[in-house]
Amino acid sequence: MGEVRLSGVRKSFGPVSVIEGIDLDIAEGEFVAFVGPSGSGKSTLLRMIAGLETVSAGDILIGGQNVTFAEPGDRGIAMVFQSYALYPHMNVFENIAFNLRLSRLPRPEVEARVRDAARILRLDALLDRSPAQLSGGQRQRVAIGRAIVRKPRVFLFDEPLSNLDAALRVQMRLEIERLHRELGTTMIYVTHDQVEAMTLADRIVALDQGRVQQVGPPLEMYAHPANRFVAGFIGSPTMNFLPARVAAVTDGQARLEATGMTPFHRPLAGARAGDSVTLGIRPEALRLGPADAAGDDGPALQARVETVERLGNITFVYLDPGAGDLLTLQIMGDLALANGDTVRAIADADSIHVFDDKGRSMTAAPT
Ligand SMILES: Nc1ncnc2c1ncn2[C@@H]1O[C@H](COP(=O)(O)OP(=O)(O)OP(=O)(O)O)[C@@H](O)[C@H]1O
Ligand SMILES: [Mg+2]
Repeated sequence: MGEVRLSGVRKSFGPVSVIEGIDLDIAEGEFVAFVGPSGSGKSTLLRMIAGLETVSAGDILIGGQNVTFAEPGDRGIAMVFQSYALYPHMNVFENIAFNLRLSRLPRPEVEARVRDAARILRLDALLDRSPAQLSGGQRQRVAIGRAIVRKPRVFLFDEPLSNLDAALRVQMRLEIERLHRELGTTMIYVTHDQVEAMTLADRIVALDQGRVQQVGPPLEMYAHPANRFVAGFIGSPTMNFLPARVAAVTDGQARLEATGMTPFHRPLAGARAGDSVTLGIRPEALRLGPADAAGDDGPALQARVETVERLGNITFVYLDPGAGDLLTLQIMGDLALANGDTVRAIADADSIHVFDDKGRSMTAAPT
């Protein structure tokens, strides 16, 4: 019913290619998030699935049916946008019912579907209000209601929460999660917010410059990013990157050296002595040790505390290792630390990601 297949999908606007050939299978009932930076092609890809944009090459199948050239209304999809554009002169009920009325559905059926959507979205008490009398979150729920009543095979969301403030976004995120659980319908959700993608999606599709960089369950993308782009995009605060060199390879174990850091060994597929690589260390994979190397129990870097940000439950420490970028270190709770202190940041060798000179992970588990 609601499975979606993209095969060799490309898009160019004139001479500019923005989607570079995408193959993707989305299962019935799956929640898939497209993430990527601005301009990576997320909306374009979604709009092609919706039929709001033509494809330059490739095929789009929904429920096993080739819809590449079908009209949006014939695809069994419903789309929710960032701007919810409600009709200001109609009340909530009429806004939700509007498209159904156009489709000439019998009146009792329209009534039943609107009531059902209102119940799911907890809008029951607001059906007589006009959009001007609603909060931003309530308005977005009405926009989602308009999609629900159409009983689509696939829901398409394009950044539906970006217009809401932080607290409301969290609340609406939970609402969308519940909606998916309750309806069990396939959902494709575009966002540049990796937290939304991590929390909502069964699988994430990470896009950069119109290409799929990696597809996988959120925690797999976090634990085993396939490349530097995904490593930097998934996870917050973002991963620390340090230039390093493969000093030697013995029995498949590479000796890695980075400026100011204790050399360490890792098994690295395909590494050769002399290779330039990049180390990736998550802020939460670093811990603080005394300023004396004798206390090190893993590869360590000596650094000066540049800034400490205390959020109560967690603390971010920004460290200046003397060369290159600041390192971010995240610890639970708080600790006595002042700007200018000298500390050692210690990692476990197996928690360090290694990327080759093309940014591909040399440490990701093969998939
Ligand atoms: N109608 C158009 N004509 C020409 N170029 C376009 C058109 N629509 C989009 N593009 C280009 O295609 C690329 C992808 O755009 P798209 O809107 O899909 O990005 P996005 O990932 O959704 O970004 P954002 O997070 O900012 O919404 C961009 O470089 C954009 O400038
Ligand atoms: Mg977009």
